[in-house]
Amino acid sequence: MLEHSDTVKGTILLIQAPGTPTLIKGKITGLEPGLHGFHIHEFGDMSEGCKSMGGHYNPDGVDHGDIEKGHVGDLGNVLADESGVAEFSITAKRVDLLGERSVIGRGLVIHSDEDDLGKGGDAESLKTGNAGDRLACGVIVARSEEIVEAHGGKHTTTGRSMTKGEMNKREKIVKGMKKDKAGFKKRYGKDAEAVMYATATKQAMK
Ligand code: CU
Ligand code: ZN
Repeated sequence: MLEHSDTVKGTILLIQAPGTPTLIKGKITGLEPGLHGFHIHEFGDMSEGCKSMGGHYNPDGVDHGDIEKGHVGDLGNVLADESGVAEFSITAKRVDLLGERSVIGRGLVIHSDEDDLGKGGDAESLKTGNAGDRLACGVIVARSEEIVEAHGGKHTTTGRSMTKGEMNKREKIVKGMKKDKAGFKKRYGKDAEAVMYATATKQAMK
């Protein structure tokens, strides 16, 4: 069994309205300061921790690269500050939550090292960007605030009872979603109803 930090955690929110890029907003804590590769991986499968998430989501069969070109799942790097916190807002033109290339059900992974964006000059660079270990990962799940509220109950997706802290966190997420949705309504009018939300709560590998 690989030993990984169990301190890396975070919540990521993905939002897309029809015909617009996907906005990926999040906060990850417990990181080493500096840049960390951040990708959408092919499978939302955590049966063997982050290992079972497969490679980067790559529907076009191209080499690894950056957010503009390369794997659709290539989101580049996120920057953790001195206290190990990475807060980011990424506009991903090639990532879809809607339609047949939806990434719902796939995985998000944060890595130990900087992603060289395919410019490392070796074979691994064109495959993974030499981003190193998978520190934490989460499955991208579609939801609306109503679903989160009604569906959440008092249990997690694995059936375990939620802790007080987790319940509070969920309340916060719902609040944030409502705020985002209000913003989207302003921007997109009636199209806001079709906005797709997806969240991934990163879980440390145990
Ligand atoms: Cu990755
Ligand atoms: Zn890649």
